[in-house]
Amino acid sequence: MPEQKSVLTASAIKSLLSASYGLSIVKVSPFEHGSANCYCVADDHAMYFLKEYQSRFTEADLNCETALVDYLIKQNYPTAAIIPTLQGRLYLKYQGRLILLQKYICGKTYIKQRLPQHLLMESAGLLGKMHSLLHDYMLPCEMDAQWLKSFCPDQLAEEYDKLLEVLEAQGNDKFYERIKQDIQYKKHLAYEMPHFNRYYDGITYCATHGDYSCFQYICDHEHIIAVIDFSSAKTLPVVWEIMRSYVQSSDSCKDGKEFNVHDFCSYVRTYLRYAPLNKQDLAAMPYVYLNQLIRSKYGYKEYLITKTENREELIRFAFWRTDICREIFRKKEALSVQLYSLL
Ligand SMILES: Nc1ncnc2c1ncn2[C@@H]1O[C@H](COP(=O)(O)OP(=O)(O)O)[C@@H](O)[C@H]1O
Ligand SMILES: [Mg+2]
Repeated sequence: MPEQKSVLTASAIKSLLSASYGLSIVKVSPFEHGSANCYCVADDHAMYFLKEYQSRFTEADLNCETALVDYLIKQNYPTAAIIPTLQGRLYLKYQGRLILLQKYICGKTYIKQRLPQHLLMESAGLLGKMHSLLHDYMLPCEMDAQWLKSFCPDQLAEEYDKLLEVLEAQGNDKFYERIKQDIQYKKHLAYEMPHFNRYYDGITYCATHGDYSCFQYICDHEHIIAVIDFSSAKTLPVVWEIMRSYVQSSDSCKDGKEFNVHDFCSYVRTYLRYAPLNKQDLAAMPYVYLNQLIRSKYGYKEYLITKTENREELIRFAFWRTDICREIFRKKEALSVQLYSLL
């Protein structure tokens, strides 16, 4: 469901694309999925993908994303080409929102943890390929040494205490017990995190997608034909993107299932055919991923405080992710050892 109401109408799209792209659009169909407002638009010859970004996106963000997509296209990486305006611009601004037009890729995007196994393994290879192409590509860095140093367990515990206070005022909420358990658990883990810091020494950072998962693949029956949506791209620990993408996409991470260490090792092995990792990366992988999971209040905050329209969907996502956190925390040593032995 889009995060914000669209500023576009079918007739606004038609006149915008006529003036800026010289296109005579005959059909406009909004997409149901996606957090941006997305449309499939068609003239008599072709279909296009139009994306109206949420208002938080700036021109600097779009400059970054379009340059990256252009770079990947030039390296023959499978993604959707951006269509320039008649004046050669890569995006437009309309009523304060940024708008991008791309080549339409016909295919299927799978929902969370429904990606067929052969496409899951293919996605690991495509992630490796992306990292090897982006080896020297510069993007702003996150989860770096500065970020690690700035972490204070007492402060995170205090933030969780504030959420617990808000929860107490909503004592008859149907999810009261579950939310309380989860937040108390995450608060307790805040004090474990400083022990993870040593794993960051010597791990690989690289420019990466930033939200690599099944939601961002367009597939035919046999293959992933495009990786799309580079709007979260940053320089990050590559092992974070590897583990997160597996968790978000694999059937073995569905609600209530046990994390499948063997299958995850196959995923990492497939990645290693396309890009290198060092021993430290492999040993650090579960700790780097846990570090982010433990800090995240996503879902709880939206449910309890901002009361976002789709708060029920977000709290279920938060429950699932905290269960994943429990599962990985339990298996972290075994996982680290097994991954380390892949090289
Ligand atoms: N170029 C494209 N051609 C066809 N469908 C696309 C294209 N780009 C994205 N999509 C579809 O639209 C959905 C939302 O697009 P995306 O760029 O991921 O936006 P969001 O920022 O909302 O996640 C994708 O999951 C995919 O199914
Ligand atoms: Mg997306």
